[in-house]
Amino acid sequence: MKKNKDKFKYFYKDLLQYQKEINSELKRFFNKKIKESSLIFKQAAETIRILKQGNIVGGKRIRPILINVGYSLAGGKNKKSILKASLSIELLHNYFLIHDDIIDRDELRRGKKSLYSFYKNKTNDLHKGISLAIVGGDITISLAYQAILESNFLEKNKIKALEILNQTNINTCHGQMLEMFLESKPNKITEKEIFNILKNKTAYYTFANPLKIGAVLAGSNNKFLSQLEKIGLSLGIAFQIRDDILDLFGSEKELGKPVASDIKEGKPNLLILKTLALAKPKDKKIFKEYLGKKIINQKDIKEIRRIVTESRALDYCQNKAWGLVKKASFLIKKMKVPQKEKEFLLNLADYIIERKF
Ligand code: IPE
Ligand code: IPE
Ligand code: MG
Ligand code: MG
Ligand code: MG
Repeated sequence: MKKNKDKFKYFYKDLLQYQKEINSELKRFFNKKIKESSLIFKQAAETIRILKQGNIVGGKRIRPILINVGYSLAGGKNKKSILKASLSIELLHNYFLIHDDIIDRDELRRGKKSLYSFYKNKTNDLHKGISLAIVGGDITISLAYQAILESNFLEKNKIKALEILNQTNINTCHGQMLEMFLESKPNKITEKEIFNILKNKTAYYTFANPLKIGAVLAGSNNKFLSQLEKIGLSLGIAFQIRDDILDLFGSEKELGKPVASDIKEGKPNLLILKTLALAKPKDKKIFKEYLGKKIINQKDIKEIRRIVTESRALDYCQNKAWGLVKKASFLIKKMKVPQKEKEFLLNLADYIIERKF
C-alpha cells in the first residue's frame, strides 16, 4: 500500500514537470505566432493573442504528455524536438474545445469565458460571437499542423504524424456529429451508438492517436502502433466516461466548466442511457423531464444526482471505466518498453478515472 502511495507521489511530480515544460513551450510557440501574424496586419496579431490566452489559461495537458510518452515508449531520444511537436495535439484539442463550446452552448471553459462567449460580449452579438469563434478555431487547427511541420524530425515521419492528426480530426468531428444527431432522443439510443461516440469523439484524439503520433515520430513500426491504439482506445473511452460523470457530479469551480451541461443539452451518454434503463418508473419520469431543460437550478441538480445514484447508473459507469482501465493496464504491462514510461502510463490510467477535474 505504502509503495503504491509513493508511486503515485512520483507520478504527480512527473505530471507536473511535463505540464510545466508544455506550458512554457506553448507560450514560446504562441509568441512566435503573434510575431508572424503581426506581419499580416495588426488585428491578426491581436487574434492570436486572444487564442493564446485560451490556450495557456489551464488544462491538464494529457494529450501532449501522451505524445511525449508514446515517443519515449517507442525508443525516441530527442526530448526537445518531441516537446515542440507535442503541442500539435494540444492545439487540435483547443480547436475542438472552441467549437465544442458553441455546440454545447457553454459559456465557461477552464474557468474563463469560452471563446464564443468572449466575442459575443465584445460585439454584443451572439451570431457574430459564434462566427468569430468558428474562425478562431480554424486558425487554431492550422497552428496544430504547423507545430508538427516546424518540428525537427525526418520528413517521412512528419508526414505519418500529419496523416494521423488529420484522421483524428475526421473521427472527432464524426463523433461530435453523431452525438448531435442523437441529442434528445433518449428512447432511441443504443449502447453501441454511445460507444461509437465515446470512441470517435474522444478516445482517438485524447489517447490512442497522441500515443501513435509520438511513436511514429520515433520511427515506430505498425505492430507497435496497433498495440498503442488498443491501449489508447480503452483509456480514451474511460476518460470520456469519467468526463460524463464529472459533468453531473463534479464542481464547476474545480472543473472550470458548467455542471449539468449534458443534461441541459439532452446529450446521449452512458450515464444518461443507463439511468433511463435502471431508474424506478417514477424517477425515470422525473429524470426525462430534466433532459433538454435549458434552465436547471441547484435543487434540480441535487435531484438528478439522487436519481442517477439510486438507479446505480453511476456505479455502472464507474465500473465500466474501471474495467477499461484494467484491460489497458494488462496490455501495458505486457509491453517490452522502457520501465519509467511504462509506469507513468499505468499511473496515468488510474488517474484518469479518479480525477476530480
Ligand atoms: C475535455 O478534455 C474534453 C474531453 C474530451 C472530455 P480535458 O478534460 O482534457 O480538458 P483540459 O484540457 O484539461 O481542459
Ligand atoms: C467534447 O466532449 C469532446 C470534444 C471533442 C471536444 P464534451 O462536450 O463532454 O467536453 P467538455 O465536457 O465540454 O469538456
Ligand atoms: Mg462540451
Ligand atoms: Mg460536447
Ligand atoms: Mg463533458
